[in-house]
Amino acid sequence: MSVKAVIIDCDPGVDDAVALLLAFASRAEMDVLAVTTVAGNVNAALTARNARLIRQIAGREDVPIYAGAIAPLVRPPVVASHFHGDSGLGWMAISEPAAPAATGHAVDAIIDLIMSRPPGSVSIAVTGPATNLALAMTLQPAIAQRLEQAVIMGGARSEGGNITASAEYNVFADPHAAELVFRSGAPCVVLGLDATHQVRATPPKLDAIRGIGTPAAMAVADLLDFSIAVHRRLVGPEDYPPLHDPCTIAYLLEPSLFQTVPVDLRVELESPLTLGHTAVEFRVKDPGAATVQWAVKANAEGVFDLLLERLAR
Ligand code: BDR
Ligand code: CA
Repeated sequence: MSVKAVIIDCDPGVDDAVALLLAFASRAEMDVLAVTTVAGNVNAALTARNARLIRQIAGREDVPIYAGAIAPLVRPPVVASHFHGDSGLGWMAISEPAAPAATGHAVDAIIDLIMSRPPGSVSIAVTGPATNLALAMTLQPAIAQRLEQAVIMGGARSEGGNITASAEYNVFADPHAAELVFRSGAPCVVLGLDATHQVRATPPKLDAIRGIGTPAAMAVADLLDFSIAVHRRLVGPEDYPPLHDPCTIAYLLEPSLFQTVPVDLRVELESPLTLGHTAVEFRVKDPGAATVQWAVKANAEGVFDLLLERLAR
C-alpha cells in the first residue's frame, strides 16, 4: 500500500483533535505533510495552540503546524465553543506546548506543498471552515487540478442541519469558502452529516478506546467523554456524539468504509434563513464528469475498528 501524502486543515475542536490523533498514529500509511489551522470552533490563536498540543501528545513534532485565516472570507466568525468547550478541547488540561508553530502562513504552506510535489500526489483533509483552502485556490488556482483529493467534512442533506435548521457548522461558518472549493473543479469528497451521523461515540466504544491505555488513546477517550456529556445536555440523553472529522482521515486511509455518489453541490449564500445550506443535486447529467462525491453511507464499525487499531500502535 502506498503512503498517502496529506495536509490536514482543521479547527481543533474536539473531533478535529481525534482526527489528528488518528492521522498521527497512521505513520505507515499516511505522510502528514503539514497541519494547517483556521478560525472555527474557537478563535484562530486557540486552534493553532490546540493543534500543537495534540501534536505533542502524539509525539509528532516532525509535522509542521502553520496557523491560518483568522476570519471567514466574508462573514464574521461563528464559534462553536458550546460543543467544544472554551479552550476548544473539552476537559483536556491545557498547557503551552513546547514546540512552536512553523514560520509562515497556512495558505502559503498549502500552495507550496501542493505546487512543489507531482500533480495528483497530495490530498487535503478539511475539517473546519474551508477558508484556508479557498484562499489558497484564489491565490493559486492551479492547485485545484493538482490535488489528488480534497476530503471535506461539511454540509448536510437528509439529516438537516446542526447549527441552523438546514446548515451544517463548517459550511455555515464560511459558506463562501465552501462554495468556492466545491465549484473549483478539484476532486472533492464531501462527508456531510448524512454520513458522519452514522458514526457515533457510544460509551462501550469509549471504554474500548480507554482500555488501550496509550497516551493517544487516553486523550481520545477524554475528548469523547466530554463530547458525550455535552450531547446529553444539549441534544438529548439518548443522543451520542458523531465522529465528524475523523471520518475524513478514515476515508483517506480506507475509502471502502464509505459509499459516495457523484453530485452537483451548491451552497446557499443569500437567504438569512438557510445560509450555508448545501443543495445536493443527485440528478447529474454526466456522473463520470462530476468532480464532487457526496457520502451517503459510512461503515461505523469499520471506522471504530480502524481507530482502535491505530491508537493501539
Ligand atoms: C463540524 O463542526 C465542528 O464543530 C466539528 O469540529 C466538525 O468539523 C461538524 O458540523
Ligand atoms: Ca472541525
